[in-house]
Amino acid sequence: MRDPSFSDVLLAWYDVHAREMPWRVGPADRMAGVRPDPYAVWMSEIMLQQTTVAAVTEYFRKFIAAWPTVADLAAADDADVMAAWAGLGYYARARNLLKCARAVVADHGGVFPSTYDALLKLPGIGPYTAGAVSSIAFDQASVVVDGNVERVMARYFAELTPLPAAKPALTALAAQETPDNRAGDYAQAVMDLGATICSPKSPACGICPVMECCAARAQGIAAELPRKTPKKPKPTRTGTAYVVRRTDGAWLLETRPEKGLLGGMLGWPTTDWAEGLPKVDPPVPADWRNTDLTVRHTFTHFHLELDVKLAVVPMTAEPTRGGFVDASKFSPKDLPTVMRKAYDAAAPCFETET
Ligand code: ADE
Repeated sequence: MRDPSFSDVLLAWYDVHAREMPWRVGPADRMAGVRPDPYAVWMSEIMLQQTTVAAVTEYFRKFIAAWPTVADLAAADDADVMAAWAGLGYYARARNLLKCARAVVADHGGVFPSTYDALLKLPGIGPYTAGAVSSIAFDQASVVVDGNVERVMARYFAELTPLPAAKPALTALAAQETPDNRAGDYAQAVMDLGATICSPKSPACGICPVMECCAARAQGIAAELPRKTPKKPKPTRTGTAYVVRRTDGAWLLETRPEKGLLGGMLGWPTTDWAEGLPKVDPPVPADWRNTDLTVRHTFTHFHLELDVKLAVVPMTAEPTRGGFVDASKFSPKDLPTVMRKAYDAAAPCFETET
């Protein structure tokens, strides 16, 4: 049974404590009739998956400035969008962002659909994003469940089953509490509560607006919830990145294949990444400098240790992979983080050579 006090109390709290975000229309403005831009809501929700508000804010501003409407984004060059996304991680999101913008323009006349079901059919939009956009942009009473919402529900109802097994139960509880009115404010209120007060490690139960009815607080177990089934330790993969500079200062770079990790992103030619050292020919014959440079990066499912090999090659060099990019056209900012780490490690070694 729905506990109406939960959403009422939470909305009253949100009216006073809503966080300001560049894509958000706050509760007072909403009350005055200001509507959020569905394009901005969608963009922010894609960026916020697995990424903090603090990390997203700068990228969101950059994207909206470069491509103010969904039609602008749909018409953008893929390479420009991938370069602008560099550093934000989970690059499939950027590829899907473009696909979705193009589908909204081609199939919906450049207007985002407003219902959960229609949004779910668009590329890169799963249940979370369909729920978030339909509720935040269109005030539909959709269920919105992210990690914050799971934590708030697990504590409020003292759900002891560990994640991920508890997901269906927590989604059902979130659905039960979702009000018909002010659905967009409510969705953001639960997420704000989870991000600020009902935080993972030391929840601030003493100032929580819903503390009186919180079952975990009553039992003194809020900080222990949600329980989690331990994850398998991540394996470590290894490989080699080849950072090559021509005598005129140009860098040897390649766009990674669409499918696969860092798909569509710019990077140094590398070997495959595998457990156990793979053997692959370097992308150009060269007098490789054996450095002891290694960069480390953690992806969702594995740790990566990438040895970095360096070479300076003559103007006549003909690489088997990638192409030389003029030094004036190369910006390390366009690289995904692991490739940027390799650049940061390698670049000082070239300064003494070229
Ligand atoms: N996390 C993801 N989307 C959010 C939103 N709209 N408000 C607050 N936190 C969020």
